[in-house]
Amino acid sequence: MGAKSLCGKYFSSPNFYEQETQKIFRKEWICVGRASDISNVGDYLLHEIDGESFIVVRNDRMQVNCFYNVCRHRGTRIQEEPCGRFKARIACPYHAWTYDLQGNLKTAPNMDGVEGFDLNDYTLGAVRCVVWQGFVLINLDRESPAFEESYGPIYSRFDEWELADLVSAHRKTYDIGANWKIIFQNYSECYHCSLVHPQLSPITSVTTASNDFTEGPFLGGPMILSDAYDTVSTDGALCGDHFPRLSDEARNKVFFYTLFPSLFVSPHPDYVLTHRIERRSRNSTRIICDWLFPQEVVDRNGFDATNAIDFWDVTNRQDWHVCELTQQGVQSESYKPGPYSNLESTLAAFDRHYLKVIGEIES
Ligand code: FES
Ligand SMILES: [Fe+2]
Repeated sequence: MGAKSLCGKYFSSPNFYEQETQKIFRKEWICVGRASDISNVGDYLLHEIDGESFIVVRNDRMQVNCFYNVCRHRGTRIQEEPCGRFKARIACPYHAWTYDLQGNLKTAPNMDGVEGFDLNDYTLGAVRCVVWQGFVLINLDRESPAFEESYGPIYSRFDEWELADLVSAHRKTYDIGANWKIIFQNYSECYHCSLVHPQLSPITSVTTASNDFTEGPFLGGPMILSDAYDTVSTDGALCGDHFPRLSDEARNKVFFYTLFPSLFVSPHPDYVLTHRIERRSRNSTRIICDWLFPQEVVDRNGFDATNAIDFWDVTNRQDWHVCELTQQGVQSESYKPGPYSNLESTLAAFDRHYLKVIGEIES
Protein backbone atom coordinates (compact mmCIF):
# COMPACT_ATOMS: atom_id res chain seq x y z
CA MET A 1 0.00 0.00 0.00
CA GLY A 2 1.35 3.44 -0.91
CA ALA A 3 1.96 6.32 1.43
CA LYS A 4 -0.83 8.68 2.42
CA SER A 5 -0.87 12.33 3.44
CA LEU A 6 -0.49 13.28 7.11
CA CYS A 7 -3.39 13.05 9.57
CA GLY A 8 -5.25 16.28 10.34
CA LYS A 9 -3.94 16.44 13.91
CA TYR A 10 -0.49 17.41 12.64
CA PHE A 11 -1.96 20.52 11.05
CA SER A 12 -4.29 21.62 13.80
CA SER A 13 -3.60 20.10 17.22
CA PRO A 14 -2.06 22.41 19.89
CA ASN A 15 -0.33 19.34 21.32
CA PHE A 16 1.56 18.62 18.10
CA TYR A 17 2.30 22.28 17.64
CA GLU A 18 4.03 22.26 21.01
CA GLN A 19 5.87 19.04 20.15
CA GLU A 20 7.17 20.70 17.00
CA THR A 21 8.39 23.61 19.09
CA GLN A 22 10.35 21.37 21.41
CA LYS A 23 11.55 18.73 18.96
CA ILE A 24 12.05 20.74 15.80
CA PHE A 25 12.24 24.49 16.28
CA ARG A 26 14.29 24.33 19.50
CA LYS A 27 16.53 21.53 18.19
CA GLU A 28 17.23 22.08 14.50
CA TRP A 29 19.27 24.72 12.67
CA ILE A 30 16.85 27.51 11.77
CA CYS A 31 17.60 30.01 9.02
CA VAL A 32 17.10 33.60 10.21
CA GLY A 33 18.26 35.58 7.15
CA ARG A 34 21.20 36.35 4.90
CA ALA A 35 24.56 37.48 6.30
CA SER A 36 24.43 40.31 3.75
CA ASP A 37 21.39 41.68 5.63
CA ILE A 38 23.83 42.60 8.42
CA SER A 39 26.97 43.37 6.46
CA ASN A 40 28.41 46.19 8.61
CA VAL A 41 29.74 46.16 12.17
CA GLY A 42 26.82 46.65 14.55
CA ASP A 43 24.13 45.71 12.01
CA TYR A 44 21.53 43.47 13.61
CA LEU A 45 18.24 41.77 12.98
CA LEU A 46 15.77 40.30 15.44
CA HIS A 47 14.35 36.83 15.05
CA GLU A 48 11.49 35.31 17.00
CA ILE A 49 10.82 31.65 17.71
CA ASP A 50 7.66 30.99 19.69
CA GLY A 51 7.79 34.13 21.76
CA GLU A 52 11.58 34.03 22.31
CA SER A 53 13.37 36.95 20.73
CA PHE A 54 16.96 36.80 19.48
CA ILE A 55 19.44 39.46 18.43
CA VAL A 56 21.60 38.45 15.47
CA VAL A 57 24.43 40.94 15.17
CA ARG A 58 27.65 41.54 13.21
CA ASN A 59 30.40 42.10 15.76
CA ASP A 60 33.55 44.20 15.39
CA ARG A 61 35.52 41.16 14.22
CA MET A 62 32.97 40.83 11.40
CA GLN A 63 31.58 37.63 12.89
CA VAL A 64 27.86 37.02 13.22
CA ASN A 65 26.68 36.40 16.80
CA CYS A 66 23.29 35.55 18.21
CA PHE A 67 22.04 36.38 21.71
CA TYR A 68 18.81 36.08 23.61
CA ASN A 69 17.18 39.52 23.55
CA VAL A 70 17.00 39.49 27.34
CA CYS A 71 18.83 41.88 29.68
CA ARG A 72 20.90 40.24 32.41
CA HIS A 73 19.71 42.83 34.96
CA ARG A 74 15.98 42.24 35.29
CA GLY A 75 15.27 40.42 32.09
CA THR A 76 13.89 43.22 29.99
CA ARG A 77 13.69 42.76 26.23
CA ILE A 78 16.54 44.96 25.07
CA GLN A 79 15.75 45.71 21.45
CA GLU A 80 12.33 46.19 19.85
CA GLU A 81 13.15 47.47 16.36
CA PRO A 82 13.28 44.45 14.00
CA CYS A 83 16.55 45.55 12.39
CA GLY A 84 19.07 48.37 12.52
CA ARG A 85 22.59 49.16 13.64
CA PHE A 86 24.04 49.31 17.16
CA LYS A 87 26.61 52.02 17.71
CA ALA A 88 29.30 49.89 19.37
CA ARG A 89 27.06 48.95 22.33
CA ILE A 90 23.81 47.09 22.88
CA ALA A 91 22.01 49.22 25.46
CA CYS A 92 19.08 48.15 27.60
CA PRO A 93 16.38 50.87 27.63
CA TYR A 94 15.47 50.27 31.29
CA HIS A 95 18.53 51.03 33.46
CA ALA A 96 21.16 51.50 30.74
CA TRP A 97 23.23 48.39 31.23
CA THR A 98 25.29 48.17 28.04
CA TYR A 99 26.86 45.20 26.28
CA ASP A 100 29.48 45.09 23.54
CA LEU A 101 28.82 43.33 20.23
CA GLN A 102 30.29 40.12 21.69
CA GLY A 103 27.59 40.21 24.38
CA ASN A 104 29.94 41.23 27.22
CA LEU A 105 28.46 43.52 29.84
CA LYS A 106 30.56 46.69 29.74
CA THR A 107 28.72 49.21 31.90
CA ALA A 108 26.12 48.90 34.64
CA PRO A 109 25.40 52.28 36.25
CA ASN A 110 25.37 52.48 40.06
CA MET A 111 26.35 48.83 40.53
CA ASP A 112 29.84 49.63 41.84
CA GLY A 113 28.92 49.38 45.48
CA VAL A 114 27.05 46.11 45.15
CA GLU A 115 28.92 43.38 46.97
CA GLY A 116 30.24 40.63 44.73
CA PHE A 117 28.97 42.25 41.53
CA ASP A 118 31.22 41.52 38.58
CA LEU A 119 30.45 42.65 35.04
CA ASN A 120 31.98 39.41 33.73
CA ASP A 121 29.24 37.36 35.32
CA TYR A 122 26.49 38.90 33.19
CA THR A 123 27.12 38.36 29.50
CA LEU A 124 24.14 38.08 27.19
CA GLY A 125 22.87 34.54 26.70
CA ALA A 126 24.63 33.25 23.58
CA VAL A 127 22.95 31.07 20.95
CA ARG A 128 24.81 28.85 18.47
CA CYS A 129 25.05 30.63 15.16
CA VAL A 130 26.71 29.84 11.82
CA VAL A 131 26.95 31.42 8.41
CA TRP A 132 26.66 28.88 5.61
CA GLN A 133 26.38 29.74 1.93
CA GLY A 134 25.49 33.27 3.00
CA PHE A 135 22.60 32.12 5.20
CA VAL A 136 22.62 32.78 8.94
CA LEU A 137 21.36 29.79 10.92
CA ILE A 138 20.86 29.52 14.67
CA ASN A 139 20.30 26.54 16.93
CA LEU A 140 18.81 26.79 20.43
CA ASP A 141 20.00 23.34 21.47
CA ARG A 142 23.54 23.31 22.86
CA GLU A 143 23.62 19.50 22.64
CA SER A 144 22.56 19.01 19.04
CA PRO A 145 25.23 17.89 16.54
CA ALA A 146 27.63 20.37 14.97
CA PHE A 147 26.30 22.23 11.96
CA GLU A 148 28.84 20.61 9.63
CA GLU A 149 27.59 17.21 10.69
CA SER A 150 23.88 18.04 10.42
CA TYR A 151 24.33 19.70 7.03
CA GLY A 152 27.00 17.25 5.80
CA PRO A 153 24.95 15.80 2.91
CA ILE A 154 24.15 19.20 1.43
CA TYR A 155 27.09 21.21 2.77
CA SER A 156 28.83 21.73 -0.60
CA ARG A 157 25.85 21.24 -2.89
CA PHE A 158 25.56 24.91 -3.85
CA ASP A 159 29.22 25.66 -4.51
CA GLU A 160 28.63 25.72 -8.28
CA TRP A 161 26.35 28.71 -7.82
CA GLU A 162 28.77 30.41 -5.40
CA LEU A 163 25.75 30.94 -3.21
CA ALA A 164 27.80 32.38 -0.34
CA ASP A 165 28.59 35.49 -2.38
CA LEU A 166 25.17 36.15 -3.85
CA VAL A 167 23.14 39.16 -2.80
CA SER A 168 19.45 39.80 -2.86
CA ALA A 169 18.29 41.80 -5.88
CA HIS A 170 14.76 41.68 -4.56
CA ARG A 171 12.88 40.43 -1.49
CA LYS A 172 9.20 39.75 -1.00
CA THR A 173 7.46 38.74 2.20
CA TYR A 174 4.25 36.72 2.12
CA ASP A 175 1.91 35.88 5.00
CA ILE A 176 0.01 32.71 4.26
CA GLY A 177 -2.93 31.16 6.06
CA ALA A 178 -1.51 27.65 6.02
CA ASN A 179 0.58 25.37 8.19
CA TRP A 180 4.32 25.40 7.39
CA LYS A 181 4.27 21.71 6.40
CA ILE A 182 1.65 22.37 3.72
CA ILE A 183 4.04 24.94 2.23
CA PHE A 184 6.87 22.37 2.24
CA GLN A 185 4.66 19.78 0.64
CA ASN A 186 3.42 22.15 -2.03
CA TYR A 187 6.99 23.08 -3.01
CA SER A 188 7.99 19.43 -3.18
CA GLU A 189 5.82 18.31 -6.07
CA CYS A 190 4.90 19.44 -9.56
CA TYR A 191 1.85 17.20 -9.81
CA HIS A 192 -0.13 20.43 -9.40
CA CYS A 193 1.89 22.47 -11.92
CA SER A 194 -0.13 22.04 -15.09
CA LEU A 195 -3.34 23.14 -13.41
CA VAL A 196 -2.11 25.70 -10.87
CA HIS A 197 0.79 27.20 -12.87
CA PRO A 198 -0.17 27.33 -16.55
CA GLN A 199 2.78 29.68 -17.17
CA LEU A 200 5.31 27.28 -15.59
CA SER A 201 4.34 24.07 -17.33
CA PRO A 202 5.79 24.97 -20.76
CA ILE A 203 9.13 25.85 -19.10
CA THR A 204 9.71 22.81 -16.92
CA SER A 205 7.69 19.70 -17.50
CA VAL A 206 6.83 17.54 -14.51
CA THR A 207 8.03 14.53 -16.50
CA THR A 208 11.63 15.85 -16.32
CA ALA A 209 11.69 16.06 -12.51
CA SER A 210 14.07 13.86 -10.55
CA ASN A 211 15.48 13.81 -7.04
CA ASP A 212 19.05 13.58 -5.85
CA PHE A 213 18.00 13.76 -2.20
CA THR A 214 15.23 11.26 -1.51
CA GLU A 215 15.23 10.68 2.26
CA GLY A 216 15.99 12.71 5.40
CA PRO A 217 16.11 16.43 6.18
CA PHE A 218 17.16 17.52 2.67
CA LEU A 219 15.01 16.62 -0.31
CA GLY A 220 14.67 17.49 -3.96
CA GLY A 221 16.49 17.71 -7.25
CA PRO A 222 16.41 19.08 -10.80
CA MET A 223 13.90 19.74 -13.53
CA ILE A 224 15.02 20.31 -17.13
CA LEU A 225 14.30 23.60 -18.87
CA SER A 226 12.50 23.37 -22.21
CA ASP A 227 14.60 24.30 -25.24
CA ALA A 228 13.04 27.73 -25.70
CA TYR A 229 13.97 28.83 -22.17
CA ASP A 230 17.39 29.79 -20.80
CA THR A 231 16.01 30.31 -17.31
CA VAL A 232 12.73 30.69 -15.49
CA SER A 233 11.51 34.19 -16.30
CA THR A 234 8.50 35.70 -18.03
CA ASP A 235 10.26 35.77 -21.43
CA GLY A 236 12.59 32.83 -20.85
CA ALA A 237 15.70 34.99 -21.24
CA LEU A 238 18.46 35.24 -18.62
CA CYS A 239 18.24 38.22 -16.25
CA GLY A 240 21.89 37.79 -15.28
CA ASP A 241 24.76 35.64 -16.59
CA HIS A 242 25.23 31.90 -16.46
CA PHE A 243 27.01 31.21 -13.19
CA PRO A 244 30.66 30.84 -14.26
CA ARG A 245 31.35 27.61 -12.37
CA LEU A 246 28.17 25.92 -13.54
CA SER A 247 28.68 22.65 -15.41
CA ASP A 248 27.22 22.41 -18.93
CA GLU A 249 24.86 19.81 -17.60
CA ALA A 250 23.42 22.18 -14.97
CA ARG A 251 22.96 25.05 -17.42
CA ASN A 252 19.62 23.83 -18.66
CA LYS A 253 18.26 22.82 -15.28
CA VAL A 254 16.46 24.36 -12.35
CA PHE A 255 16.90 22.71 -8.97
CA PHE A 256 14.44 22.63 -6.11
CA TYR A 257 15.60 21.66 -2.62
CA THR A 258 13.88 21.74 0.76
CA LEU A 259 16.07 22.09 3.85
CA PHE A 260 14.06 21.03 6.89
CA PRO A 261 12.51 23.00 8.56
CA SER A 262 13.09 26.56 7.34
CA LEU A 263 14.51 26.90 3.86
CA PHE A 264 13.97 26.21 0.15
CA VAL A 265 16.86 26.78 -2.24
CA SER A 266 16.12 26.88 -5.99
CA PRO A 267 19.23 27.40 -8.13
CA HIS A 268 18.60 28.61 -11.69
CA PRO A 269 21.21 29.07 -14.44
CA ASP A 270 21.60 32.79 -13.61
CA TYR A 271 20.06 33.34 -10.17
CA VAL A 272 19.10 31.49 -7.02
CA LEU A 273 15.61 31.82 -5.65
CA THR A 274 15.30 31.20 -1.90
CA HIS A 275 12.30 30.91 0.38
CA ARG A 276 12.82 31.27 4.11
CA ILE A 277 9.93 29.76 6.02
CA GLU A 278 8.86 31.03 9.44
CA ARG A 279 6.25 29.03 11.30
CA ARG A 280 3.90 31.60 12.88
CA SER A 281 1.04 29.51 14.25
CA ARG A 282 -0.75 26.26 13.48
CA ASN A 283 -2.35 27.82 10.43
CA SER A 284 -0.09 30.68 9.45
CA THR A 285 3.35 30.92 7.94
CA ARG A 286 5.54 33.81 6.82
CA ILE A 287 7.70 33.35 3.76
CA ILE A 288 10.57 35.60 2.87
CA CYS A 289 11.53 35.14 -0.76
CA ASP A 290 14.83 36.40 -2.20
CA TRP A 291 16.09 36.59 -5.78
CA LEU A 292 19.88 36.22 -5.39
CA PHE A 293 22.41 37.29 -8.01
CA PRO A 294 26.14 38.00 -7.96
CA GLN A 295 26.93 41.51 -6.69
CA GLU A 296 28.65 42.49 -9.95
CA VAL A 297 25.55 41.54 -11.94
CA VAL A 298 23.28 43.57 -9.66
CA ASP A 299 25.64 46.57 -9.94
CA ARG A 300 25.71 46.45 -13.73
CA ASN A 301 24.09 49.28 -15.66
CA GLY A 302 20.72 48.20 -16.95
CA PHE A 303 20.42 45.14 -14.69
CA ASP A 304 16.76 44.25 -14.45
CA ALA A 305 15.44 41.17 -12.66
CA THR A 306 11.77 42.04 -13.19
CA ASN A 307 11.12 39.03 -15.43
CA ALA A 308 12.42 36.58 -12.84
CA ILE A 309 10.72 38.39 -9.97
CA ASP A 310 7.33 38.68 -11.65
CA PHE A 311 7.40 35.10 -12.81
CA TRP A 312 7.98 33.68 -9.35
CA ASP A 313 5.77 36.20 -7.60
CA VAL A 314 2.83 35.06 -9.71
CA THR A 315 3.80 31.41 -9.18
CA ASN A 316 4.23 31.90 -5.44
CA ARG A 317 0.79 33.45 -5.10
CA GLN A 318 -0.79 30.62 -7.04
CA ASP A 319 0.90 28.21 -4.63
CA TRP A 320 -0.09 30.10 -1.49
CA HIS A 321 -3.70 30.07 -2.63
CA VAL A 322 -3.87 26.29 -2.96
CA CYS A 323 -1.93 25.96 0.33
CA GLU A 324 -4.62 28.04 2.07
CA LEU A 325 -7.35 25.91 0.51
CA THR A 326 -5.54 22.80 1.73
CA GLN A 327 -5.25 24.20 5.26
CA GLN A 328 -8.99 24.82 5.30
CA GLY A 329 -9.65 21.27 4.16
CA VAL A 330 -7.30 19.42 6.50
CA GLN A 331 -8.98 21.16 9.45
CA SER A 332 -12.31 19.63 8.45
CA GLU A 333 -13.74 16.82 10.55
CA SER A 334 -14.24 14.94 7.30
CA TYR A 335 -10.57 15.04 6.26
CA LYS A 336 -8.82 11.70 6.09
CA PRO A 337 -5.29 11.08 4.76
CA GLY A 338 -5.38 10.53 1.00
CA PRO A 339 -3.03 8.50 -1.21
CA TYR A 340 0.09 10.12 -2.65
CA SER A 341 0.79 9.78 -6.38
CA ASN A 342 4.13 8.61 -7.74
CA LEU A 343 4.91 12.30 -8.37
CA GLU A 344 4.72 12.94 -4.62
CA SER A 345 7.50 10.67 -3.36
CA THR A 346 9.35 13.52 -1.63
CA LEU A 347 6.19 14.42 0.28
CA ALA A 348 6.09 10.91 1.68
CA ALA A 349 9.80 11.28 2.53
CA PHE A 350 9.14 14.66 4.18
CA ASP A 351 6.35 13.12 6.26
CA ARG A 352 8.57 10.20 7.32
CA HIS A 353 11.31 12.57 8.41
CA TYR A 354 8.85 14.82 10.25
CA LEU A 355 7.21 11.90 12.04
CA LYS A 356 10.60 10.53 13.09
CA VAL A 357 11.77 13.87 14.41
CA ILE A 358 8.68 14.39 16.53
CA GLY A 359 8.87 10.78 17.75
CA GLU A 360 5.73 9.42 16.09
CA ILE A 361 7.63 6.69 14.22
CA GLU A 362 10.94 5.06 15.04
CA SER A 363 14.10 6.44 13.50
S1 FES B 1 16.54 45.50 32.97
FE1 FES B 1 18.09 46.02 31.58
S2 FES B 1 19.20 47.50 32.58
FE2 FES B 1 17.70 46.96 34.01
FE1 LIG C 1 3.58 25.25 -7.19
